[in-house]
Amino acid sequence: MSNTTSSLTTSPNTRILNKKTFSVLLTQTEIETKIRDLASLLNHDYADKNPILLVILNGAFRFSADLVRYINIDVEIQFLRLASYQGTESMGEIKQILGLTTPLRDRHVIILEDIVDTGLTAHQVWQDLQAQQPASLALMTLLLKPDALQMPVECTYIGFSIPNMFVVGYGLDFDQKGREWNDIYVCL
Ligand code: IMP
Ligand code: MG
Repeated sequence: MSNTTSSLTTSPNTRILNKKTFSVLLTQTEIETKIRDLASLLNHDYADKNPILLVILNGAFRFSADLVRYINIDVEIQFLRLASYQGTESMGEIKQILGLTTPLRDRHVIILEDIVDTGLTAHQVWQDLQAQQPASLALMTLLLKPDALQMPVECTYIGFSIPNMFVVGYGLDFDQKGREWNDIYVCL
């Protein structure tokens, strides 16, 4: 059996993936602190509103799982799928929303995203969900690349604004790799 006492805090500062070098941009400690703050905001803003958290898969799986550890109000959680990315360049191709089973009409809805890059995805998801006439609609994204935005996107809650660079880790992937990394790394 390998060493089971090794700490989660011993991530390397740099990693190689698909021949590209990545270095730490946000540590898991910084991420966790931010996630507690974001959860506090939801606890405050949505007390007694029983909101629906719409988790955009795959990237937001980890963010959402950690976020709800600090949620102390009643929520419902749903997972949606769509994808617009391959490799390190946005394809600009948006797919339809899959997996939505609850009517959103008159419900308070919070979209949970890992990252808003060009904003194409968030913009389309926002339009599609708004058409269902929720009582309110909000978007919480862990990461925002303000300099990459091409569409108007109203990010109600933002974890970190980051440079317009490709990032991997904490749910975000590079060709499906790196999602399990505990820190967020940036491609050098
Ligand atoms: P957008 O539509 O360009 O805003 O980005 C849509 C999706 O692309 C995000 O939800 C991510 O899944 C993915 N994405 C954007 N930027 C990055 C990145 O830097 N690393 C990994 N995935 C990214
Ligand atoms: Mg995503």
